[in-house]
Amino acid sequence: MVDTLLSGLTPARVRLAIPKFRYESTIYIRDVLVKLGLVMTTSPTVANFTGINEEENVFLEEMFYRSSINVQETGLGDGDPVEILSFVSLVLSSERTTMILATVLLAVVGQLAYADQQQQVALSTASASFSQNLYQQVALDKPNVIYSPYSIHSALTMTSLGAKGDTASEMKSTLGITSLGDSVHLTYKELIQQMNSVTEVQLHTGNAIFVNPYYQINPKFIEDTTNDYSAKTANIDLAANGGPEKPINDYIAAQTEDMIKDVLQPGSIDGSTLMILVNTIFFNGTWEETFATYQTRSQSFNQLGGAVKQVDMMHDERSIKIKRDNANGVDVAELPFKGGRFSLYIALPQKVDGITDLEKLLAQPNKVNDLFTGLNYVRVQLAIPKFKTETKLTLNKPLKDMGMVKAFSPMAADFTGIVESSQLYISDVLHKAVIEVQETGTVAAAATVIGISFTAVLLPPSDTFIADHPFVYFLRDNQTGQILFQGKFSG
Ligand SMILES: *[C@@H]1O[C@H](CO)[C@@H](O)[C@H](O)[C@H]1NC(C)=O
Ligand SMILES: *[C@@H]1O[C@H](CO)[C@@H](O)[C@H](O)[C@H]1NC(C)=O
Repeated sequence: MVDTLLSGLTPARVRLAIPKFRYESTIYIRDVLVKLGLVMTTSPTVANFTGINEEENVFLEEMFYRSSINVQETGLGDGDPVEILSFVSLVLSSERTTMILATVLLAVVGQLAYADQQQQVALSTASASFSQNLYQQVALDKPNVIYSPYSIHSALTMTSLGAKGDTASEMKSTLGITSLGDSVHLTYKELIQQMNSVTEVQLHTGNAIFVNPYYQINPKFIEDTTNDYSAKTANIDLAANGGPEKPINDYIAAQTEDMIKDVLQPGSIDGSTLMILVNTIFFNGTWEETFATYQTRSQSFNQLGGAVKQVDMMHDERSIKIKRDNANGVDVAELPFKGGRFSLYIALPQKVDGITDLEKLLAQPNKVNDLFTGLNYVRVQLAIPKFKTETKLTLNKPLKDMGMVKAFSPMAADFTGIVESSQLYISDVLHKAVIEVQETGTVAAAATVIGISFTAVLLPPSDTFIADHPFVYFLRDNQTGQILFQGKFSG
């Protein structure tokens, strides 16, 4: 509600009169917490805060929330470093001591907010840079391509929770997250929550892990992926109608409003598959300013190499934010979606055949983010194609070329964080994405699917077991020792 209220504001010249005021309030919330069920914490006899002090019988005596705001001519506050003061104070008591954690908390809260923002920036920088490296691998040879850097980067970062040793360091280095440490997962947690609470456009993202029911996964891996990536865990239905791939493909289709179908081909899951990790994302945004359909007309589009193709172009005359980056020979336009938080940026080379130079520019470190800054409102005649692109990628080779080698190696991969005693490796990283740009807005969806498999026994056998003469067989329940079936085979 607050977000709706605060969005869509535009500058206007007005006569303004607002009161000069100062307001302070303190709310005691111990009793509220007790009403909400936090009884044990506040009881001197049963509260357990031994994590804070083992000897003392510590309990929560009082908790209050205090805030003050000071509005005056110069702005907020009067030179005080804290302009809007707001903190929660916990009074933890014991028979002998009373600990007031107020100032400590205030400082910590302030630092956390700052660190979170920095972490989000660090993560988006890493993902953007990863995306440019990936672009060089997958896009140069294709006329049209679409993929979701977020989806691929987050799915691989989630998978890295189970990687150890060199496998882990290579993955982190390729993903650009080495310097972020373990906090990258918490940052993703926050990002996923934020994305799923957006209301101005339709946006949802999710993770799921499908596990071969015959194997025991390290509970820590499941716990971490559930906590940090809200990953839903389910078993692979090896006997499913239509094959074990079908329930996973159905899940992906449901998460992407049927835009992404059949990512897994029949036969891609077999007995050596341990788990399938899935990330999906769906976006549906309406333009802040839509295009009139009657203005859309077929027009010549100059392809690289001189060919001319007729494509549907959407037209409008409007004020938009653009930038003429003459130094790099590229013009950038921003097309915002309703709410203003999401935009489609179009980076158009100034020369008709400038795409190759632009792709070279994007290959340079940290160049991509420069495209999104320094745009100003200009009234322009706008024409952009109405289009739909669909791409399916197998990312094994591109990722290997980007330095993630060991994770794909049946003999060298180390995923002991997933199953301690087994040799596991990434058998597939598949990605499928669709985007549809039209007069009313843009719909896009993507899925990344990572398959983890057991290594087939590749060592040369020193012994043989060749059943080429009559034998007896037993079908046995390993857990109880019961022989459920017994037989003989003589050819
Ligand atoms: C996207 O949103 C528009 C407008 O809200 C709606 O008509 C359309 O069906 C949506 N598309 C999908 C694939 O959900
Ligand atoms: C079968 O059971 C034995 C103990 O009876 C156990 O050591 C072994 O790990 C089990 N094998 C499998 C595949 O579960």
